[in-house]
Amino acid sequence: MKFEDFWYVVALSKQLKSNQVLSRQVLGEWLAIFRTKNGKPVALQDRCTHRNSRLSCGKVQQGYLQCPYHGWVYDESGGVVSIPSEGENFKPRASLKAKQYHTCEQDGFIYVCLTEEIKPQFSPFSMPYYQQPGWHYVRVVHRFNNNVTNCAENFIDIPHTVSVHPGIFRKSYQQKLEMTVTRTQGTVIANYHNEDTNLGWWTRFLNPSHHKIYHSDRFFMPNITSVEYQFAPRRHLFITSQSVPETETSTLVYTDATFSYGIWSYLATPFVSYTAKRIIGQDVKILQIQQEVIEKYGEKFAHTQADTIHVFVESIRKAIAQGKDPRTLPDKTIEVTFWV
Ligand code: FES
Ligand SMILES: [Fe+2]
Repeated sequence: MKFEDFWYVVALSKQLKSNQVLSRQVLGEWLAIFRTKNGKPVALQDRCTHRNSRLSCGKVQQGYLQCPYHGWVYDESGGVVSIPSEGENFKPRASLKAKQYHTCEQDGFIYVCLTEEIKPQFSPFSMPYYQQPGWHYVRVVHRFNNNVTNCAENFIDIPHTVSVHPGIFRKSYQQKLEMTVTRTQGTVIANYHNEDTNLGWWTRFLNPSHHKIYHSDRFFMPNITSVEYQFAPRRHLFITSQSVPETETSTLVYTDATFSYGIWSYLATPFVSYTAKRIIGQDVKILQIQQEVIEKYGEKFAHTQADTIHVFVESIRKAIAQGKDPRTLPDKTIEVTFWV
């Protein structure tokens, strides 16, 4: 198994208009993304076969992509269908082909899979309750100067919330938390058992009558995290992040806050949006600092019990990096107590 075997978001559906080409980077590969005449997304290696200009600097007409340098025209398979300097003598030849990648469109995202296989072995992740009745979502995109592993770890890390997001997300009063962490089938699941309402100024809205909170954080290989809170009936929230590796040190993160707050959902939307951007902006800064230190001194982590979830995430991503299938790692469940 390789990281190239999975699907990665390259754009929001609405970002890719017809007759437009987007430049993207996934796992270090440069991509030119556009739509065919029928609206199907296409991903070609961002390199013209002629004199190697960037196709993403060209233009799209009627679903064909034209290189900006000498005007060669490419179809959705990467084949060259016109060479202006050859005029009417032009004949298509199989040797002239830009590299083409798998694409699909789902849940308002455009995905690319870089596998060399004829058919990708996985499907894209399904975003929870996307456009389901009674559910609303806020979608935001942030670039992190750090790698996917450290981003994913941050998104399901509880201990940092006290210091990085003071007052917004969690107030510290040394609350004892119990969590059961399980690694199974390339997934990590952390269930919290005794979480009290400790959510700063959100408490009054989210859990005014102090119901028992259901809180579960998950990681799905290779790059998805999901935070789920059910505070009370009609107060249900998912924060789902897809961390897309641009390079070793740059990650583009697409985050959905998906919520069902009953009659308050419409009114809540701007607050959810504001809070999501504020929280993620704080994480962007702390992960930038972490990356600077890793660049200078190398990555060497120390672990506490509260980091068990990260150790499992790292084991899964390390397995893929080594070409192994993380689903063959032994299942493990650990009970952990920590304080926030
Ligand atoms: S480099 Fe693309 S047409 Fe010449
Ligand atoms: Fe955070």
